[in-house]
Amino acid sequence: MAAPRIQVLPDAVIDRIAAGEVVERPASVVKELVENALDAGARRIDVHLEGGGVRRIRVVDDGCGIPREELPLAFARHATSKLSRFEELEGIATLGFRGEALASIAAVARVRLASQPEAGEGGIAEVGPGEPLTVRPHGRPRGTEVEVADLFARVPARRKFLKSERTELHHAVELLTRLALARPELRLTLTHGRRRLLDLPPHATPAERLRAVKGERLGPLLEFREGVDGLVVSGALALPGTDLPRSARSLLYVNGRAVRDRLLSHAIAQAHETLVMRHREPFCLLFLELPPGEVDVNVHPAKAEVRFRRPGWVHSAVAAVLRTCLAEWGREAEGEAVRPAAPGPAGRREALPRAARSYRPALEAWRAAAAAEPAAAAPPAAAEAPPPGPRP
Ligand SMILES: Nc1ncnc2c1ncn2[C@@H]1O[C@H](COP(=O)(O)OP(=O)(O)O)[C@@H](O)[C@H]1O
Ligand SMILES: [Mg+2]
Repeated sequence: MAAPRIQVLPDAVIDRIAAGEVVERPASVVKELVENALDAGARRIDVHLEGGGVRRIRVVDDGCGIPREELPLAFARHATSKLSRFEELEGIATLGFRGEALASIAAVARVRLASQPEAGEGGIAEVGPGEPLTVRPHGRPRGTEVEVADLFARVPARRKFLKSERTELHHAVELLTRLALARPELRLTLTHGRRRLLDLPPHATPAERLRAVKGERLGPLLEFREGVDGLVVSGALALPGTDLPRSARSLLYVNGRAVRDRLLSHAIAQAHETLVMRHREPFCLLFLELPPGEVDVNVHPAKAEVRFRRPGWVHSAVAAVLRTCLAEWGREAEGEAVRPAAPGPAGRREALPRAARSYRPALEAWRAAAAAEPAAAAPPAAAEAPPPGPRP
């Protein structure tokens, strides 16, 4: 057979292929649009869906907006306002940086983006698969409104893989809930057709928001927050023995970014190892903050995975904090049983013993071990039975 000729693909084909990595389903579009709104400093975001998001997705924010003359750039592949030199990637604080979400979405759906910056002209851009981008003047309050219609209408192979409206909607709700937990100060609503599915006022902490979203289903929560060596571990744990709903899965965040991570899941499981659990898996809302140089966020086009520079260090720190938190709670629970329930915020039961106070000794031990051998510090033995600290 004659050798086939090698050719460079046309841009439109490249865009469609690349879109496959970023846009899998309506929830992926919602993710990219909401992350853009968050990066734009939005304090309020309203998401409207129709037909599970396949027919229409609209995201409205009150963020910094885009000047009219930059609208075409916003849709250009690899065009971003968030990064200009490769070196900056290491310290990236925004959720986006690849400059490909809008280009990818416009390759597989019709997009209309109206935006108004604080100073300068507002505009509206329209573009769709195989259609050129048009920009017109347009006025609206400060912020951006993006509407994505008929997802995958021209990509039958993709459309075939979409599930029922209900399932796609469920993915979008889960996704928004995950984003919302990391930004408790954000006001967020979600409507599907005429139904309001989420209506979140600003909350003071992620745990407070978790209670607002999941209600009583997770039972009382054990909150924790510890900082060691520039690494902060915080969040909330369901009490061991709680009869959790089957769908309860730990929620993991690294530097504010929702991630899947086996190392962190393993650390959570390990911290619960000696406990008798009624549920198959423990539930933990876990936020890990660490110096940006310690973690690579550019592993996955949808940025759903990260890579730690020193995995052993991260694993033992997380396991130690959780183990100490649980040990602390165990001792309190044995000693004085359960504290009288005080009405918490929103009239719910106060989270049981607020941990995170007398962990110091165990963490000091861990820190000493980490300092001796930074890359592979063993979890502190003291965490099993921390020396009695001062009772708060
Ligand atoms: N809601 C928004 N508010 C303000 N600017 C936005 C918004 N959405 C997109 N942009 C601008 O468009 C650019 C391209 O967006 P995107 O394709 O998602 O890439 P990235 O987020 O990786 O930069 C962003 O860098 C930003 O400047
Ligand atoms: Mg983006």
